[in-house]
Amino acid sequence: MIGVFDSGFGGLHVLKHVTTRLPQYGYIYLGDSARAPYGPRNSDEIYAFTKQGIEFLFSHGAQLVVLACNTASSEALRKIQMEYQALGNPNKVLGVLIPFAEAAAASTKNGRVGVLATEGTVRSGAFVREITKLGNIEVFQQAAPELVPLIEAGKQDSDEALLYIEKYLSPLLTHDIDTLVLGCTHYGIVQEKIKKAAKGVYVVSERDVVPDSLARYLERHPDIEQTIQENVPSHFYTTGDVAHFETLGSLFFGSAIHAEYAELGI
Ligand code: DGL
Repeated sequence: MIGVFDSGFGGLHVLKHVTTRLPQYGYIYLGDSARAPYGPRNSDEIYAFTKQGIEFLFSHGAQLVVLACNTASSEALRKIQMEYQALGNPNKVLGVLIPFAEAAAASTKNGRVGVLATEGTVRSGAFVREITKLGNIEVFQQAAPELVPLIEAGKQDSDEALLYIEKYLSPLLTHDIDTLVLGCTHYGIVQEKIKKAAKGVYVVSERDVVPDSLARYLERHPDIEQTIQENVPSHFYTTGDVAHFETLGSLFFGSAIHAEYAELGI
C-alpha cells in the first residue's frame, strides 16, 4: 500500500486525486488530527510527530510513504531521509515540495511567485529555497495561521474563512505575483474560494502536482512499484475523534470513508 501522511484532513483531498490517477494501488492514510495544527509547532515537535506517523504507516502495511503535509515535508523530511539512509533503512519517504516548486517555476512568466503556507513552512524557508533554485524567481511568503483550525473544525464555507482568505492574500497580491502556491494540503479544500480572491493569479495546488509526480516516481522505480500491493481496500486512520474524522473526511475525500483510531502513544 502507499502510505499518505498529513497533520489532519487536508491530505484526504490530495489522496482523492491520487487514487483517481493511480487507482490500482491500495492506500493507507493517517491524519494526526489530535495534534493538528502542526503549523504553529516548533521544528522538534513537527519532526517527532511526523516520524511517529511515518513509522505507524510502515508498520501497518505501507511500502512507500508520501508526506502530503507541507509543514512535515519542510521541517522533518530531510532529517528523516538522512536518518534512514544512515541506518541502512530501505523505507522510502517522499515529500511534496520539489514537484510543487517545479510547477511554480514552470508557471511564472514574470518571475514573481507567492506562497501561502503554515507558519512552520514559512519559517523553514523550504519553498523559497526550492523555487529560487529553479530560476531567477522572487518568492513572497504569507503564513495563514487561522485557516487550518477553521478547516479542521468543518468551517471551510464560513464567512470567517472567506475573510481570512482575503486578508492573507492581500499582501501577496501587492507584490504583483502571477503564480500562487497553495503550500498546505488544507488550502486545497478552499481552493475555489482562493482562486476567486486571487484575481487571475495562477493557483498551483497539491492535487495538481502530486498525482503525476507520484506516477512518474513509480515509473522510474520499478523495484519499489513492484512491492506495492494492488487491488486492496484503502485504510483510513486518525489520531483524533473517529466519528468527526469520518464525517468531515468523507466530505474532503469525496466519498464515504470508514476510519479507525491510530494509537501513536499520544
Ligand atoms: N496540512 C499541513 C500542511 O500541508 C499543515 C496544516 C497544519 O497542521 O498546520 O502544511
